[in-house]
Amino acid sequence: MAGLFISFEGTEGSGKTSIIKEVEKHFANKGIQVLTTREPGGIRISEKIRDILLDKSHTEMDAKTEALLFAASRRQHLVEKIIPALNEGKLILCDRFVDSSLVYQGIARNLGVDQVFQINQFAIENLLPTLTIFIDVRPEVGLKRVFKTPNREVNRLDLEKFEFHKMIYDGYLSLIKKYPDRIKRINGEQTIEEVSQDVIALIKLYL
Ligand code: TYD
Repeated sequence: MAGLFISFEGTEGSGKTSIIKEVEKHFANKGIQVLTTREPGGIRISEKIRDILLDKSHTEMDAKTEALLFAASRRQHLVEKIIPALNEGKLILCDRFVDSSLVYQGIARNLGVDQVFQINQFAIENLLPTLTIFIDVRPEVGLKRVFKTPNREVNRLDLEKFEFHKMIYDGYLSLIKKYPDRIKRINGEQTIEEVSQDVIALIKLYL
């Protein structure tokens, strides 16, 4: 039996990691084999690529290099982890996938969505998730959740952050328009339990 590949996307403070945990618990309790993963997802080679990507001292990193490294890490994770799990019939819940690159590198880093999609196509060879769940939390709400202190003075960095997050958020909305059959939006501005219930109901339609 072929499995089901689902990815989750969202901006900072969207709660997607907690939601994925709840969803995993629900389906595992029902006896469904679930693989919860995230890029790089514990794959040796991808972890090394991640270290290069996240190293704060790598300030000279070119945007295209960054996009290629994310794609390289994605390729290895796909081949070593996702494809075998699909062949084993598992339900795969993947925290971020190609849409993160389309939005972060394509839009925020200004490389262009189509160009970033092309280099990712080399890595994924049409293997897109059957369903991508966008946890929709407006950036002002997400950032408030992250900072939590409502009266905190807004500094330059916070402003930059807000603009950055707004760009990411708007990017996701444009992707939903581009891929309406694959990407579904869930209202993330509810309690974790409520969001998880909505996500579970959506996934059940695909099982
Ligand atoms: P992570 O700590 O995993 O963040 P989060 O909890 O938000 O998922 O860091 C991943 C960061 O890398 C996040 O800011 C999004 C970014 N990213 C890209 O820019 N491109 C990509 O293709 C992926 C997968 C992540």
